[in-house]
Amino acid sequence: MAVTAPARTSLAVLPTPLVTASRLADALGLTEPLLVKRDDLTGFAVAGNKARQLELLVAEAEEQDADVVVTGGSTGSNFVAAAAAAAAYAGMGCVVVLAGDAVNRTDHPNLAAATAWGAQVRWTGNADRASVDEMIPAVAAQLARDGARPYVIPRGGASATGALGYRLAVDELVGQLAGRTPTIVIAVGAGGTLAGLVAGVVAHGNPLRIIGASVSRPVDEVAGRVLALAREVARRRGEKEPQPSDVELVDARGPGHGVASPAGAAAAALALRYAGLVLDPVYTAKALAALPAAVADGPALFWHTGGLLDAVAALMGPL
Ligand SMILES: Cc1ncc(COP(=O)(O)O)c(C=O)c1O
Repeated sequence: MAVTAPARTSLAVLPTPLVTASRLADALGLTEPLLVKRDDLTGFAVAGNKARQLELLVAEAEEQDADVVVTGGSTGSNFVAAAAAAAAYAGMGCVVVLAGDAVNRTDHPNLAAATAWGAQVRWTGNADRASVDEMIPAVAAQLARDGARPYVIPRGGASATGALGYRLAVDELVGQLAGRTPTIVIAVGAGGTLAGLVAGVVAHGNPLRIIGASVSRPVDEVAGRVLALAREVARRRGEKEPQPSDVELVDARGPGHGVASPAGAAAAALALRYAGLVLDPVYTAKALAALPAAVADGPALFWHTGGLLDAVAALMGPL
């Protein structure tokens, strides 16, 4: 079936580089080559992986003639800052719902960036991130009553529309790999990124194994979300639907979501020293730490997803 190209607002500088990291591979004890897909270099704001998702999300908001983006997350959310930048770029307002009670905007560089880029903040008053999911629709409804045209994006951009950005990224990667078949390891939070990759790998006939390192949720919980989103992406494109066995995850939470792990800190130190890569403690450091055991043997590919401002926050000390 011919697939219609989805509407996409150009934000990222694509393709991102695919590089080899031989000294890092040695330092991690790998005996086979290590490739790194540099989605920390997507080139829009400091959005990392979220730039690819926002290309599709902003396009859909524009198609719906929205004038304000409503999304949310935690205080240090990379996605919230990225969404604020994308909304500003597209000439839309941005209202973000953040879990917990108001903190100083300079307490986290992502919050400082989001507000500097024009986001208005609404606090849920509840530290549980689920409170954000409850409040986003209420905030959007109020904005609509006030005459605005809101476009709602779930936490992390984890909708089928957002995930489509990573379905398209697989086409890009397969071209760069030119027949090589490394096992991919990538950090997983809300799951939209992995869902798109799974849909893409299945659409290409499963040439690559992909392992998600879940840093936020228990593996069973995130597997269901990823499969449902990946299937929706496939249905939209008229491509083969992924099966449960296509979603592979390892638990990389360590001491918990948003809490740095000693293994992650060690992996981040090696990445910086041997490959010049800056990893954040919340997502990418934990994913790289999980890579050697997850891949076991054969060539590997670490998909770097960004998190630069969280890396800066870690340098500056705890919240
Ligand atoms: C740096 C970084 N890596 C990976 C992820 C995971 O992406 P997803 O939420 O789509 O699973 C995120 C999500 O916020 C992120 O900020």
